[in-house]
Amino acid sequence: MTSATGDRPTPATDAAEAQWWRDAVVYQIYVRSFADSDGDGIGDLPGITSRLDAIADLGVDAVWLTPFYVSPQNDGGYDVADYRDVDPLFGTLADAERLIERAHELDLRVIVDIVPNHTSVAHRWFVEAAATPPGDPAWDRYHVQPGTGPDGGQPPNDWVSVFGGPAWSPIVSRDGTPTGYWYLHLFDDSQPDLNWSHPDVAAEMAATLRFWFDRGVDGFRIDVAHGLVKADGYPSLASVGQVPEEGAVRLFEDVQPAPCWDQPEVHEIFRSWRQIADDYPEPRVFCGEVWVTTPARQAAYVRPDELHTVFNFDFLKVPWHAAGIREIVDGSLYANGLVGAPTTWVLSNHDVTRHASRFSDRPELALLRARAMTTFMLGLPGPAYLYQGEELGLPEVFNLPPESRADPIFFRTSGEQLGRDGCRVPLPWIADHPSYGFGPGAESWLPQPASWARFARDTSSREPGDRLDPESVPTLYRRLLAVRRSHPALGMGNFEPAAGTLAWVEVGDADVLCFDRMGPPNVRVVLNCGRREVTVPGDWRLIVASGGRRRQVRATEEGLSVPPDCAVWLEAAPNGELPT
Ligand code: NOJ
Repeated sequence: MTSATGDRPTPATDAAEAQWWRDAVVYQIYVRSFADSDGDGIGDLPGITSRLDAIADLGVDAVWLTPFYVSPQNDGGYDVADYRDVDPLFGTLADAERLIERAHELDLRVIVDIVPNHTSVAHRWFVEAAATPPGDPAWDRYHVQPGTGPDGGQPPNDWVSVFGGPAWSPIVSRDGTPTGYWYLHLFDDSQPDLNWSHPDVAAEMAATLRFWFDRGVDGFRIDVAHGLVKADGYPSLASVGQVPEEGAVRLFEDVQPAPCWDQPEVHEIFRSWRQIADDYPEPRVFCGEVWVTTPARQAAYVRPDELHTVFNFDFLKVPWHAAGIREIVDGSLYANGLVGAPTTWVLSNHDVTRHASRFSDRPELALLRARAMTTFMLGLPGPAYLYQGEELGLPEVFNLPPESRADPIFFRTSGEQLGRDGCRVPLPWIADHPSYGFGPGAESWLPQPASWARFARDTSSREPGDRLDPESVPTLYRRLLAVRRSHPALGMGNFEPAAGTLAWVEVGDADVLCFDRMGPPNVRVVLNCGRREVTVPGDWRLIVASGGRRRQVRATEEGLSVPPDCAVWLEAAPNGELPT
């Protein structure tokens, strides 16, 4: 490999740096709930900056910040009123710059969110449109259609919102009389969908990308990336065979094909975005939120001239079942491999039930399995995303009082669906502090359960007077991330796409998954989803075990015995040969 300036060899490290995103571990910060600096009970940018050391210490490579832009906060900031300024709730532009600077000092890259599918009703474009009658060009930046039925009193078609209820809301004139026209919102009615065939829309988003890239951000997570283009003529769901069930309240994104998801023209948008990113000398990257139905359709978004990565949501949804997990791993590695892209693993985020509560109804077993799944995930080839609090073992909070709930899903489904607040409860930092150290006072925008002292980060601190629990979830995460860094076989291993493969090993038990990653040193990863111990034959050194003391790995005459609901990382015998 040569440098751009001549034939001087480029150091391998530079080349690997340019491909950092291929095996990075990214820590998702849900800004409202991470750390509050001013005591208003809402997390903010200075709070994050002050606590970034703890995240760097964990051993991750990057942070992803959910939207902190000017917003009425109807959907946790995913309703943006100004893409290029910071909401006063979270701080100032200078605070954002300071955060980026501090992250870089700590060797953390910074990914921020962009929300290109919709604006807030408080965005200047919607405010301008709302002051005019439908038909005025100001409305052309949104999707506006005449209603059906007498006087256009019914929505234009049968599309329903992801958050529940119709996906169209009536446009009313200033005196409140209906105009017979409706605007589209695939999410809340305060989040009107943008019309990407209007040139202003593409220009606004391109300017937003450059604005934050120029301030040093290393990448964007793209909200609803698969939804930006709607089929011409707004065909009904019924016309594409998706007759919404009687009483269906939500258009789940896995109801596809649908005229509002995964339209072919969306790829042109991302090709143009890739050019913007590639204009920068240092690598700038994208990770798309792409809910589509097959690995092949996902892989289309990560062709070499489009996005760098997309989340593998099939993995995030997988139940505790060995064959199902393997099918998803194989399918996604194969499809992404065909286009030379890594597969991006994730088990939790701010939209789903925390995985510490997902794999069983019994909390202890669920946590044990979550530890195992994380261990398995971080052994897979490719980048991985962690969601704040999972490294503390935080469970989902199912019993929030209704009056504290903020998620529009709860309100739009009249409480029938609890929504996502249960995974967004502010983090506990200090066990014996009123808000568990989330902020200086006792306030936190969602109430923290009384039982959360035991999850507080300081209970696993490495400070003097160390109360470090070798069995704790933070200790497991630190260990996994440290080993992943010291063992090039894990993650991607190097930046060559070919190195991103794994070799399955059959252990004669359908409930057990076992694969090898090639080093040196070689590493074997085992996940036991069954009810019995399984023996991995050979001469192994145990490098990480997810089960701790409660479920110990035993050395037997034949090899190592891995308990149920556990995962391990094993290092091959000193000669580097993998036992067969
Ligand atoms: C996906 C985001 O992750 C979610 O939190 C948000 O509500 C929707 N997109 C709408 O922006």
